[in-house]
Amino acid sequence: MARSAILNVMVQAAMKAGRSLARDFGEVQNLQVSLKGPGDYVSQADRKAEDILFAELSKARAGYGFLMEERGVVAGEDDQHRWIVDPLDGTTNFLHGIPVFSISIALERQGQIVAAVVYNPAMDELYTAERGGGAFLNDRRLRVSGRTKLSDAVIGCGVPHLGRGHHGNFLLELRNVMGEVAGIRRLGSAALDLAYVAAGRMDGFWETALSPWDVAAGILLVREAGGFVSDDKGGQDMLDGGSIVVGNETIHRALLKTLKKPVTPR
Ligand code: IPD
Ligand code: CA
Ligand code: CA
Repeated sequence: MARSAILNVMVQAAMKAGRSLARDFGEVQNLQVSLKGPGDYVSQADRKAEDILFAELSKARAGYGFLMEERGVVAGEDDQHRWIVDPLDGTTNFLHGIPVFSISIALERQGQIVAAVVYNPAMDELYTAERGGGAFLNDRRLRVSGRTKLSDAVIGCGVPHLGRGHHGNFLLELRNVMGEVAGIRRLGSAALDLAYVAAGRMDGFWETALSPWDVAAGILLVREAGGFVSDDKGGQDMLDGGSIVVGNETIHRALLKTLKKPVTPR
């Protein structure tokens, strides 16, 4: 599998930040942790990884802008390109010693996501995609699952943080989905949820109240693995709107329909 120069830059940056996260994961009890909002933690490990990604990506492509979880917007001279970065997606898992977390890097060109890396350093799983070039897990080409019945499907979801509202809606959606699927999973890293759908490990995924850095890379992974991606209304406002629904064509359509069903008392 030949990677373009820009994807190589992203992979190298993710690996370097991944080594930093892996070291910190081994000494998680010594990390300084602070609270950004109810149930929403940030640690020294998040900031260190972000510093590495910022330095590596800036060095490789001077002038590109950034949207990063901890730094926010960093304008660049080149307004055609922007990195969208979550240095540690799955901080809660990380801080609890659960090895399900990732680094997520997307490159946006003229408003379109053209390259993506999601890396889980604890499992050494590297997901990559380039627009039109397919999605890969390490060297293996990915394809979304072929299941077509919701009753056979395992669907991932996200549970909104305490402070973010949306709990009422989530419970209604969960109740609808639970009634129709084979199983539900909550991994705790939206970037990995999307990567798992791209890899066919989960048949679909939905979540609301997300941020652009949670989903930017994963959107391209799913699309390049042949999957369908929309917001929860079937539109394409995933980055700014914060909701996302994914799956193969049939599961995506069925999941959208199920999420919208009026809840009937049981
Ligand atoms: C979180 C994870 C989680 C999702 C949360 C996100 P963070 O990101 O992606 O799966 O449910 O809404 O905020 O805070 O660990 O980077
Ligand atoms: Ca995140
Ligand atoms: Ca994060």
